[in-house]
Amino acid sequence: MTALTRLRLTDYRNYAALDLALDGRHVCLYGANGAGKTNLLEAISQLGPGRGLRSAGLADMTRHDAEAGWTVSGELEDRRIGVGLDTSGNTAKRQVRIDGAPANASDLAELIRIVWLTPTMDGVFRGGASERRRFFDRQVMAHVPSHGATSSRYEKAMRERNALLERGFIDPAWADAIEGRMAEAGAEIAANRVRVLRALQDSVNARPEGHFPKADIALEGDTEITAASTPDLATIAESLADALREGRRRDIAAGRTLSGPHRSDLTVMHRPTGAPAREASTGQQKALLIGLILASAQALAAAAHDAPAPLLLLDEAAAHLDPDRRAALYDELSALPGQAWLTGTERFLFDAFEDRAQRVEVTEGAAEVMA
Ligand SMILES: Nc1ncnc2c1ncn2[C@@H]1O[C@H](COP(=O)(O)OP(=O)(O)O)[C@@H](O)[C@H]1O
Ligand SMILES: [Mg+2]
Repeated sequence: MTALTRLRLTDYRNYAALDLALDGRHVCLYGANGAGKTNLLEAISQLGPGRGLRSAGLADMTRHDAEAGWTVSGELEDRRIGVGLDTSGNTAKRQVRIDGAPANASDLAELIRIVWLTPTMDGVFRGGASERRRFFDRQVMAHVPSHGATSSRYEKAMRERNALLERGFIDPAWADAIEGRMAEAGAEIAANRVRVLRALQDSVNARPEGHFPKADIALEGDTEITAASTPDLATIAESLADALREGRRRDIAAGRTLSGPHRSDLTVMHRPTGAPAREASTGQQKALLIGLILASAQALAAAAHDAPAPLLLLDEAAAHLDPDRRAALYDELSALPGQAWLTGTERFLFDAFEDRAQRVEVTEGAAEVMA
């Protein structure tokens, strides 16, 4: 099983220093509210691409009163991996280390993949398109680690276009150049999304019937529709560039860019009832979300020939499940090839794991393996 067998933190959130040695089983973190359970999951999430589980700024994660930046490091299948906030230069920046030497984020992504579920995702079906897009793009990023950088490139070009729109006059040559960059990055974004959507739906379909209902998912957006009909990036880019050019006058009136993958939505249907997930009960939504995240981890595991098995971080997922569902969740986790980290306020929540997981007690800025 792909597992962290050691986790070390310095000056990360409420941890001045932590060194946790683990035996490679799943990990159940229990402790009072505010003890630092979610902080531990967030620390692990820093080992993946993007801003991590709370989307926090780099400096926000530094422990109050710390003199320098934070570090998170671990041992994963004989490799030593770490990230940190380096405050030694003029501008603080994120630093990656592998086996003691400086490395790139893309090197790190070769070694570790991470998927997570947090209580803040509970509202994803009822919320706006941007929330669902962010949720889905997180799954895409776990499959395609460069997706985040591609999205940043797209957004940067879009900000330039929006600045042009605000002036109310568009120099065609200039706009062509900016829209060309948007189209190139946008095509890649849409192609990534379509590919991961298919892998995720396949993975959902292959899941056992039972405690976590299946979802039917689709992407709503013109660029994704094109990307679903052809894998050719140049063709997708061309259709997006056309849409942007044709939309200039409309976009000047709106003061922003109204076409492109930054407007897309993920539609989710609750298969057992055939109704939109947004209309499902809170409990149904929660179970649907757990099913989707399990499917996401299973899809990554199925692609394991070109990616490491994912770690799965489940924050407060156990408390809201009845005992049967909890046991079903632990059985499913036990069948995954990657380590799961779970949190809960009470140790008994994890009893059905039996000896398939380690228990770790978390108390204000400290954590101790109990069994
Ligand atoms: N940058 C920081 N420095 C020090 N403490 C922090 C920092 N950020 C958050 N905390 C503290 O971490 C605690 C919350 O930890 P959290 O992991 O969310 O708890 P829980 O165990 O309930 O999941 C709070 O007490 C908060 O004040
Ligand atoms: Mg928490």
